[in-house]
Amino acid sequence: MIGILGGAFDPVHNEHIELARAAAKELKLDALLVVPTFFPPHKNVAELEFADRAEILRRVFADFPVAVTVSDEEKIYFEECGGYCYTAEILPRLKKKYGDAVYIIGGDSFAQLESWMRPRDIIECAPVAVAARGGYENPREVKKRLFEGIFKGVPHGRVKLLRFAGTDTSSMVTRARLLANLPADIPEAAARYIAERGLFSRYKPICDKLKTMITAERYKHSLSVAVTAVEINMKCKLKQDFDKTLLAGLLHDCGKNSVNGVNTAIGADGVSGANTAIGADGDWFAGRVPLDAVGTKTEHQFTGAVIAEEIFGVTDKEILNAIRTHTTGAPDMTLLQRLMYTADAVEPLRDLEFADTADLRRSVFADFEGGFRATLKYTLDSLIARGIKIYPLTADAARYYLGAE
Ligand SMILES: [Fe+2]
Ligand SMILES: [Fe+2]
Repeated sequence: MIGILGGAFDPVHNEHIELARAAAKELKLDALLVVPTFFPPHKNVAELEFADRAEILRRVFADFPVAVTVSDEEKIYFEECGGYCYTAEILPRLKKKYGDAVYIIGGDSFAQLESWMRPRDIIECAPVAVAARGGYENPREVKKRLFEGIFKGVPHGRVKLLRFAGTDTSSMVTRARLLANLPADIPEAAARYIAERGLFSRYKPICDKLKTMITAERYKHSLSVAVTAVEINMKCKLKQDFDKTLLAGLLHDCGKNSVNGVNTAIGADGVSGANTAIGADGDWFAGRVPLDAVGTKTEHQFTGAVIAEEIFGVTDKEILNAIRTHTTGAPDMTLLQRLMYTADAVEPLRDLEFADTADLRRSVFADFEGGFRATLKYTLDSLIARGIKIYPLTADAARYYLGAE
């Protein structure tokens, strides 16, 4: 029996390998067929080209316990049929070429099977083996629901629940980590290939510049906020644009070293001095930073929005607004603004600073809007407890979202 493992693999991460390894052992597979998704070139939604994803898979599966073939069947399908290839269409083609097979999926995909194209055709073509995944619906319950519904009448043995239970590692968070130049949970061979080819380097110029403008600690925090924002966006299904989320997170504190309208950027040597790109007169800030914010902890959100626009060339108003309110919050914020406000407060590196950050983070992942309001309340209470003057925008945000006086 061969196993079929499909997915975008953009990029393949360790969880994919663990799932494949467990399935090969539990199902006593003779061979494994790995089938990366092909996206039409004119609307390639993947970060990596098909050829790179397939080559990375070949390298990481080179020393797998059973023989592995990385299939380009989806690419062939596109060339022949010209359209997106659904699992219900690809499985019969693979079966014809390779013989009887079992289709291996994670609990996240299994929980969504009802929304797939012709799921009954899938299960009638090949038995499905499912592994649970942390953070997703229990496959046992999903199986019960499916067999009472769309799979009614299909023998229950067509779905096998694997003993292996995976973590919630996701390709989207892995992508965000790689783009932010952070260590990611991917196989060694994948990391080597990515480094050799300079893949995932779209944000490198921005990161390199940012690094010269803020402290090393602030830079680490910025990367962490960007990745946390992507993770919240994905897990809470906020449907915010991936790049807007990542970019707003990376740049949210780019004004942190601006004081009184002049950016006192810290150079690589750690010596501070006026940023000549801005000009000592700080003209760009004139009229764009409220006077009552100058010299306060909230100043950097306003200078940050100016720097993001003038130095980093950001023109997207939603991103600039998200930077402009990330510290104080504001009434009637967009979802991206609320996301940035929250991610800034609950990113994991904050745990060292504030004892309650981990609790807040958990509440955000459980229910974003509730978690956002809890974060706002926590921030307000902590400002009051420390005797820090509440900036008017924060008071307005509290009234708007918490009904607080
Ligand atoms: Fe900030
Ligand atoms: Fe921040």
